[in-house]
Order: sequence, then structure tokens, then C-alpha cells
Amino acid sequence: QIPVRIGLLGCGNVGAELLKLLTRDSELIHSQTGERFVVTAVAVRDLNRPRPDYVDRELLTDRPEDVVASSDVDIVVEVMGGISPTRELIEKALLSGKTVVTANKALLAVVGAELTQIANSVGRDIFFEAAVAGGIPLIRSLRVSLAGERVRRIAGIVNGTTNFILSAMSDSDLSYEDALALAMEAGYAEADPSADVEGDDARAKAAILATVAFGRLVRFEDVYREGITKITSMDIDFAKRHGFEIKLLAICEVLDQPGDSSQKIAVRVHPSLVPKDHPLALVRDSFNAVFVTGEAVGELMFYGRGAGGLPTASAVLGDVIDAAHNLRYGVTERQLDREPAHLVSIHEME
Ligand code: HSE
Repeated sequence: QIPVRIGLLGCGNVGAELLKLLTRDSELIHSQTGERFVVTAVAVRDLNRPRPDYVDRELLTDRPEDVVASSDVDIVVEVMGGISPTRELIEKALLSGKTVVTANKALLAVVGAELTQIANSVGRDIFFEAAVAGGIPLIRSLRVSLAGERVRRIAGIVNGTTNFILSAMSDSDLSYEDALALAMEAGYAEADPSADVEGDDARAKAAILATVAFGRLVRFEDVYREGITKITSMDIDFAKRHGFEIKLLAICEVLDQPGDSSQKIAVRVHPSLVPKDHPLALVRDSFNAVFVTGEAVGELMFYGRGAGGLPTASAVLGDVIDAAHNLRYGVTERQLDREPAHLVSIHEME
């Protein structure tokens, strides 16, 4: 069987862990899925940076534009992050017939619809399980298992860094600054952690979740957001004394009644008071937890590691295997290419 060839863009926490899984678990992956993979190129910014043993230095290049155009690549895995040149690279990859797997929530929340249109126009896929809630199989659950469900509400913790900070402030009396430094050291935070603490990372994830769950396009700029930078230890103590934890929640909801075809949608991210015995109040460290409510299925809870190299690499690996199956059987998925949603702002809700 001819192996599916992977070109990797980025070899930070997630990229390196993916290479480890693909190497260490190649037999397991083959026996469980029937697929074999070979990594043919790895684009990095700095060729001289020390890398773990399982990163084959022969494959490294600092020319990502060559990887996306290479005739030795079937699937481009983008874990380099950023908007530019990442957008252009993904477009080139799709236009040269590659399937794309990306973890780039910031990019998808802004131009996911355009990238999906390009993918559709060339009969290729763009997969993004790792973009939301790290290792939790949330996107695939919404996209596949709940494809026929009328999802009414999604609410939860989708940013590991801020949950780590709020938990450390609440449990260990750490200052905001010390907790943020620890989250960065652990590799949970974005390259620019202001995206985490200002709520923009959760905002991007909320836009993607709403688009997938409600089948209508919700973009980054449609989502109201307030981060955690103004939360003090005093706020946390005050909340605790009254029986609450402060959590940064992303909330996506359909506001109209069942059967009303107008489907008004509200999507927001802000610190919330969560009663201390609610499951979301118990979520600690960089874990994420998301409640999904559907008309038929009722309430579901998804819980797991929302950040970190290995859990995120697990989600990327699932996408790579899905992508390989689709290539084999000549099928594609329709994902973020949707009609715009009818959005209601938080001010209209009050
Ligand atoms: N910075 C993100 C977080 C990484 O803390 O959740 C995972 O998307």
C-alpha cells in the first residue's frame, strides 16, 4: 500500500508531537485505520534550532512555499499559526490539489469560509478538529455525529490558558502575572498571550463552533468578547464567598423558538459567575469543558485537555487519518462555507 505523504508546516509543540505519534505509533495507526503515512517535508522558521530525536533533520526546510507546491505531498498539515503568510500557503496548498489539516483557529474564524470555498472548488478538504478545544473531539462530533441535530446552545470553557490562570488564582492564591507566566511556560498560551487573556482565542473558537453547529456563517468580528485582564484576586475571593467560580465562557445560542426559520443567533465570550457545584466550575488547569444542547439529543458534556502539544497533536492525527480516507475514497466534506447567520448582538439581548 502506498503511504499517504504529509508535508508539515511548523514544528513547534504540536508539530513535534505529531511527528512523534506518526513515528512511534505507525503500526498501531495502520492496524487500526488501514492507513500508512510518511512525512516528506517539515517547514520550520529556524533550521538550526535544537529538535527532538524523532524529528528527522533531513526533512527540514525553511521554504514552506516549496512544501505546499511539492508533488511529494498529499496532505499539508498547518501548525505554524499566524494569518500571513499562512493564509497564502493554505490557499496555494489547496489550489495545487492538497488536502489541508489546520489547527489555526485565528485564521479560520476570519477567512474559514473563503478557504472552504477554495477547497470545494478544487474538490479537496480542509479539516480543523485541533482548532477548537485541543484534544476534545468536538468539531467532528458536531459535524458528523450531530449533523442532523438542531443544536440550540453551546456553552463552555474553550481556552486552556485563561482557565489555568483563573484556577491558579482561585486555588493557589497566585497573582494573575505569576499564573500567566506558568501557563506560558507549560506551552498552553498563544505566541502572543494577549489573544488568550483578552478573549480573542476563545472568540475565534466560538465563531467556528457556532458556524459548524448552527450551519450559518459566524465570523470572528461577529462575536462579542471580554477577556480576563480586569479580573483581580479580590473578584475571585468575592465570587467564592458567594458560592461561585469565575470562568471565561464562550456561549453560542439560537434565540428563536423551535420551528422559527429565521434562526437568530447570539455568540459571546466573557467572564461568568458559575455556581461552584456546576461541572464547569470544577474544570481546572488547562482543561476545557463544553456543553452542547440539541433538541433531540438533549444535553451533552465534552471534557478534556484543551491545550498542549500532545492532546492537540492527537486531534491533528485524527484529521490526517480522516483526510487520508477521503483521498482514498474520493469524497470531500462541506464545512465552513455557509450563508451568513442572522446575529443578535449582546446589547440587543439585554
Ligand atoms: N492558547 C490556547 C489555549 C491553545 O490556551 O486554549 C489551544 O487552542
